[in-house]
Amino acid sequence: MRVLIEPDEAAVARTAANAVAPLVRHATCNLGVATGSSPVPTYRELARRCASGELNFSGVHVFLLDEYAGLPQQHPQSYFSTIRRDFTTAVGIPDDHIHGPDGYAENVFEEAAQYDRHLTEVGGIDVQILGIGRNGHIGFNEPMSSLASRTHVAVLTNQTRQDNSRFFAAIDDVPRRAITQGLATISEARSIVLIATGPAKSSALAAAIEGPLSARCPASVLQLHPNVTIIADEEAAQDLE
Ligand code: F6R
Repeated sequence: MRVLIEPDEAAVARTAANAVAPLVRHATCNLGVATGSSPVPTYRELARRCASGELNFSGVHVFLLDEYAGLPQQHPQSYFSTIRRDFTTAVGIPDDHIHGPDGYAENVFEEAAQYDRHLTEVGGIDVQILGIGRNGHIGFNEPMSSLASRTHVAVLTNQTRQDNSRFFAAIDDVPRRAITQGLATISEARSIVLIATGPAKSSALAAAIEGPLSARCPASVLQLHPNVTIIADEEAAQDLE
């Protein structure tokens, strides 16, 4: 695990963009994307480099880490809509290069299994961008998720629904379930960049990096991965030894 500590969110975004850029320059790149607030400055930095001609995303396919169950793709808070708004539109990635499970599928369990197969069929993820939840979740793999899990339907904890309610009119509108890549699925990405900013992430980040490998902190599974870069600002890093 490489742990890079930067002074602030803007520096985190530049360092994360530096980590992703070499892979984007390949003729083709399967880029795994998290939604949420943490990667947004990185997406903006990648978009800035695209606008200046430094980077070109024509060979990039993006793959969602997770998707709410019960929201149609065109719902403004679906992760498909979110990644378009936060990233793909700005770098000219067309919608048919955005891959993700359909949270509105009739059988979300079959949809989850199908997405897992799809990730294998396309040759896997070259670089996966992750955030981390206050409870150590990655994707929607909440504490006590199996470290060997594949893409599956997960039940969101109350804390995660509360945290995500800022994107909805009311907490009751936040879906209770999501389709998420499992911890084993995420671990198959060839490289992983985890972004953590702000003091609310400090204890989860310390548990992920320095705690025991444990389902209590799902992100600790990354300790086993050979190519993980964790990029944190000083506030998120404040509980590290
Ligand atoms: C989002 C996702 C989540 C978030 C995490 C942190 O696709 O899978 O695991 O990365 O909840 O969210 P933010 O960055 O909003 O604090």
